[in-house]
Amino acid sequence: MAFDRVFLDELSARNDIVDVVSQYVQLKKSGANYFGLCPFHNEKTPSFSVSPDKQIFHCFGCGAGGGVITFTMKAEGLEFPDAVRYLAARAGMQVPEQGEADRKAARHRERLYALCKDAARFYYDTLWKPENRVAQQYFLGRGLHRRTMNRFGLGYAPDSFHALLDAMTAKGYTRDEMLDAGLLSRSEKGHVYDRFRGRVMFPIIDVRGNVIAFGGRVLDDSKPKYLNSPETPIFHKSRNLFALNLSKTTKSGYFILAEGYMDVIALHQAGFDCAVASLGTSLTEEQARIIARHVGRIVISYDADGAGQSAAQRAIDILKKCDLQVKVLRIPGAKDPDEFIKAKGADAFRALIERSEDHNAYRLEQIAAKYDLEDDEARVQFLRDAARMLAGIESSIEREVYAGRAAKMAGVTAEAMNVEVRRELNIRKKKQKAAERREIRSPVGMAQPKDRTLAYADVKSAKAEENVLRLLFYDQKLAVGLEKELPPAWFSAPVLRKIYERVLALDREGQMVDILSFEGWLEANEMSLLSAILDQGIPPGEHRQEMQEYINTIRMQRVRDGTITEAGEDPLLTFGRIKKQNAGGQTI
Ligand code: GTP
Ligand code: MN
Repeated sequence: MAFDRVFLDELSARNDIVDVVSQYVQLKKSGANYFGLCPFHNEKTPSFSVSPDKQIFHCFGCGAGGGVITFTMKAEGLEFPDAVRYLAARAGMQVPEQGEADRKAARHRERLYALCKDAARFYYDTLWKPENRVAQQYFLGRGLHRRTMNRFGLGYAPDSFHALLDAMTAKGYTRDEMLDAGLLSRSEKGHVYDRFRGRVMFPIIDVRGNVIAFGGRVLDDSKPKYLNSPETPIFHKSRNLFALNLSKTTKSGYFILAEGYMDVIALHQAGFDCAVASLGTSLTEEQARIIARHVGRIVISYDADGAGQSAAQRAIDILKKCDLQVKVLRIPGAKDPDEFIKAKGADAFRALIERSEDHNAYRLEQIAAKYDLEDDEARVQFLRDAARMLAGIESSIEREVYAGRAAKMAGVTAEAMNVEVRRELNIRKKKQKAAERREIRSPVGMAQPKDRTLAYADVKSAKAEENVLRLLFYDQKLAVGLEKELPPAWFSAPVLRKIYERVLALDREGQMVDILSFEGWLEANEMSLLSAILDQGIPPGEHRQEMQEYINTIRMQRVRDGTITEAGEDPLLTFGRIKKQNAGGQTI
């Protein structure tokens, strides 16, 4: 964490979460909590709650949650340190100088930047060694000019388990630094070796020009085709866009969003200085916000296949949320922008951009393609389908324009189309209300986290893990000696294990375990999950015994899945014994 705990305590005491939230949301007290309309998603019935006791907020509707700093980050669109400064200013407090721990972390990151830069240099030099002509030929064979290759810093990782390790060791970097930068892998036996071997290398460069990660591609058809750096202290995949460093200065006023490294590089070479890619995964909200900071318009140019097209649909929704004007380009007769440009040239691609459709038109086309509009029955189906999509358009003017277009496509009057759209709008409204009511009434603690990327593989175990955390936040004394009884490795859900490990660490260091010690440390989605867990409250009862039951449940699940076996004992026996102990409420 970037700030001293004593300062943060004071900051939190002087910025009561109810006061801060009240600046944005009209809150009403009900029981121990306050309720209001969530400022982070559209709703008509309040599902947003603030707990003055726990100093957390949590929305049952969209799942957002956290403490006062997280709230400020979200409401004001600030990064953690700036949200802290904002709250300090609000309370008239001075922000202290950074502590030693921060300076150390900052120095570590600087080392990783330097290391990645040297590694990129190494891969680059390796590419141009005479013995690696095959790799040079690979790029040249794909139509890249030497100038383009240099501009993107392309390189080659030799087919060796220690070439990079040796070269970087000679430059004074440690193995730990190379592991932290994601350049080495570690075998089960603990040996470390080069992560990228026999691959052409694409450095990933952040907006300030630092090399922060790599993508590596095989030269043939073997798998995996691309290998990317893992998340590291300097590389967060969801927060970076490939080639943003080059595209940020474009004068075009828009970005082209492609899927792959090669697409982006081919586009730049063809003169489109505004092409970026979302690094292989589907576009994230953070990436969309970054795009919106640089341009007002975006042209989605994904692969022509089904996967690319459904990814485009998802990207539209995310980009629209950031108020971007979204167009979608379709690539006739080629797999992706790279292949299209190679086959038809830059001017042909420019024509595609000019002809690219507004996302609403694109969606209508996608729907129309499913039906034979000559057939009456199919036309009725098309109208229904189109009306559902049109009802989702926020702006009434846009809605009307595209309703008119849909009517034309199906050969019916605009009025007939409008009737259908209004019907869909009403259905939508009713559904939304019902969903909001359901969410408020639904028993707290739905089985899975709202954010599906955090989905639990073992729900039974994860629920017990959640309960362990809930108890620990409520009564920190329960943490004493807990690590032996419940090793973090027994946790099935990575996010819950991460929180558990920090709880243990905080307790060991004599620090307080509360939401404040997790702000700015957890990712936003993880923070939301933690708030949802804590929001469930603590039923009265014997907490120590309750804790023991959760531990037994987790332990049993680990025996079941073979993670733990008693030395020399048959797993089934262990299982039966623990089960019996559980039934008797005995401790182990
Ligand atoms: P080529 O033209 O064959 O080099 O690839 P492409 O750029 O057309 O990529 P493709 O459409 O197959 O995939 C798009 C992007 O997804 C790539 O640029 C990578 O970032 C990512 N990707 C593709 N294959 C893999 C893979 O096997 N593993 C990982 N982690 N990412 C991949
Ligand atoms: Mn391709």
